[in-house]
Amino acid sequence: MLLSPQPLPTHVRLVEVGPRDGLQNEAQPISVADKVQLVDALSAAGLSYIEVGSFVSPKWVPQMAGSAEVFAQIQRKPGVTYGALAPNLRGFEDALAAGVKEVAVFAAASEAFSQRNINCSISESLERFAPIMAAAKQNGISVRGYVSCVLGCPYEGEIAPAQVAAVARELYAMGCYEVSLGDTIGTGTAGATRHLFEVVGAQVPRAKLAGHFHDTYGQAIANIYASLLEGINVFDSSIAGLGGCPYAKGASGNVATEDVLYLLNGLGIETGIDLDALIRAGQQISQVLRRATGSRVAKAHNAV
Ligand code: HMG
Ligand code: MG
Repeated sequence: MLLSPQPLPTHVRLVEVGPRDGLQNEAQPISVADKVQLVDALSAAGLSYIEVGSFVSPKWVPQMAGSAEVFAQIQRKPGVTYGALAPNLRGFEDALAAGVKEVAVFAAASEAFSQRNINCSISESLERFAPIMAAAKQNGISVRGYVSCVLGCPYEGEIAPAQVAAVARELYAMGCYEVSLGDTIGTGTAGATRHLFEVVGAQVPRAKLAGHFHDTYGQAIANIYASLLEGINVFDSSIAGLGGCPYAKGASGNVATEDVLYLLNGLGIETGIDLDALIRAGQQISQVLRRATGSRVAKAHNAV
């Protein structure tokens, strides 16, 4: 049974994952200069957190191979966090050498997805993160945690919320300051989302949880609204709805940042982001990719 809604937050932080979660899935080469231009346009639009790239194996995700160069060339705007994924200590050390101040580790709530994505079991992945957490502490680096497949898995189907809660609790206990719950294949519904946050919220404080929705079934905005009602106030989103996941067949783009901002603006929730500047950043990268934007708001805005 769903509990009564929590009051809506007055402020929401958006974590822009387009340059990483969006571009990692692109087969066509994208130059370092285009990636840098995208990151700088996003910071100029007022985003306070941008996930710039990944320090993963280039054999697994070739598109992220140039992440160190991207970090070297972006204009770091004060007050903006520029993050990167690190799957193991090697990735963490490469990130550190590139001047990264915040990393994210990523686990899954599904054993099959964990194997396909990072080639190890869930418990092995958590063991791999322990030395990252220790090195991060030594170097004053914050670590964010992800759990994938929280509302369904492309290989295992349904995932029990208790399983998500167990992995999220481990990540939080090992020192992740925030744990982002990812609906990697975008099958979640508003009801399932509320139930998930009720179950996970009993194990990890809600103020330490974030929502990461892919829009495969067109439910992401509804799921974000459902999350707001559960007291969640951090959401990951991707400019122009870029993305998918190389290890989740059929996963379409992440929810578009423009669309989330439109929702939040309509609710009077502060983000510090300028919608027009955001739409321009989305147009730029869509031109680079020679593809129409995946943002409904940007499409409607550009049509008038
Ligand atoms: P592995 O093959 O099991 O690892 O991969 P290994 O230790 O046997 O190493 C194999 C090779 O990779 C070796 O090179 C290593 O040196 C190299 P070789 O001797 O063959 O030349 N290597 C590395 N190179 C660069 N950076 C590193 C690194 N580590 C090893 N950090 C590994 C294991 C984790 C490395 C691999 O599976 C991997 O890189 N996976 C990344 C997968 C990924 O990035 N997926 C997408 C992100 S997750 C996501 O999108 C979901 C999320 O958005 C949330 C959601 O939507 O739900 C976060
Ligand atoms: Mg994702």
